[in-house]
Amino acid sequence: MHKDLENKVAIITGASRGLGQEYAVKLAEAGAKVIAADITDCNKTTQIIKDSGGTCMSVQLDVRNQSSCDAMAKMTFDKFGRIDILVNNAALYGSLKGGRFDALAEQDWNDCLDVNISGIWRCCKAVIGSMKAQQSGSIINISSLAALAGLPYALHYSTSKAAVIGLTRALARELGRDWIRVNSIGPTAVATEGTEEFFGDKLEQATKAIAEGQALKRTLSPDDLTGTILYLASDASKFVTGQTIMVDGGTVFL
Ligand SMILES: NC(=O)c1ccc[n+]([C@@H]2O[C@H](COP(=O)([O-])OP(=O)(O)OC[C@H]3O[C@@H](n4cnc5c(N)ncnc54)[C@H](O)[C@@H]3O)[C@@H](O)[C@H]2O)c1
Repeated sequence: MHKDLENKVAIITGASRGLGQEYAVKLAEAGAKVIAADITDCNKTTQIIKDSGGTCMSVQLDVRNQSSCDAMAKMTFDKFGRIDILVNNAALYGSLKGGRFDALAEQDWNDCLDVNISGIWRCCKAVIGSMKAQQSGSIINISSLAALAGLPYALHYSTSKAAVIGLTRALARELGRDWIRVNSIGPTAVATEGTEEFFGDKLEQATKAIAEGQALKRTLSPDDLTGTILYLASDASKFVTGQTIMVDGGTVFL
């Protein structure tokens, strides 16, 4: 592994398990100092990174609350003196209750949009002062195939992930003048605990149907996504902004 991200500081939200944990571990392997942030504790993520010789600080974060996001950014800056990368991965996904669009509870709808969209907006606001001062930064927002393919029985989730793409494009235009890049990744269903919870007893049926629709017909594992994260985090993508990269085995083509 090349240490492309040596001396870079990366915040990953939703890093206590699943994809966020995988991103944190791989960014640390590439040399970044990692802040693993989540509403639940990130002890396991921190341990994995420290055991392999990396640097990781874990932070309690609730993206529903601006002061929590600001505190995370402040702790990062106080400890490491800069913020280079923000991976907005935290979301309501595994814990979401799906159903027909007209049967979704209004509270569930509001919670989903609050965490999955407004949470990204809040985290971006929290880190932007440091990135502007540096005149550099890479923000990576996690969208989903659900945004483009239209996932039935999860209208709140699909809507929130479609909004992530719009947010990414508009923010890229706004922050280009400060040399801050904003991109998005759209994974298809990946084998994580979150996906098991999301699909419940329909898991096997759903993952089989999803894989059938791909050019590369197999279910993704978390490792399939990390190359794209590392690319967007590093200078390898230094002139790429406002983009959404689908990591979906070739399901939709942008
Ligand atoms: N796994 C997939 O198949 C898949 C596919 C497409 C997109 N995604 C997206 O990838 C991301 C991670 O997916 P995952 O499978 O690891 O799911 P997950 O449900 O395990 O991860 C979400 C994380 O966000 C955290 N979180 C929830 N609310 C929070 C809050 N208010 N503040 C801070 N943290 C909070 C959770 O504690 C959890 O660790 C999510 O954005 C998800 O929508 C996943």
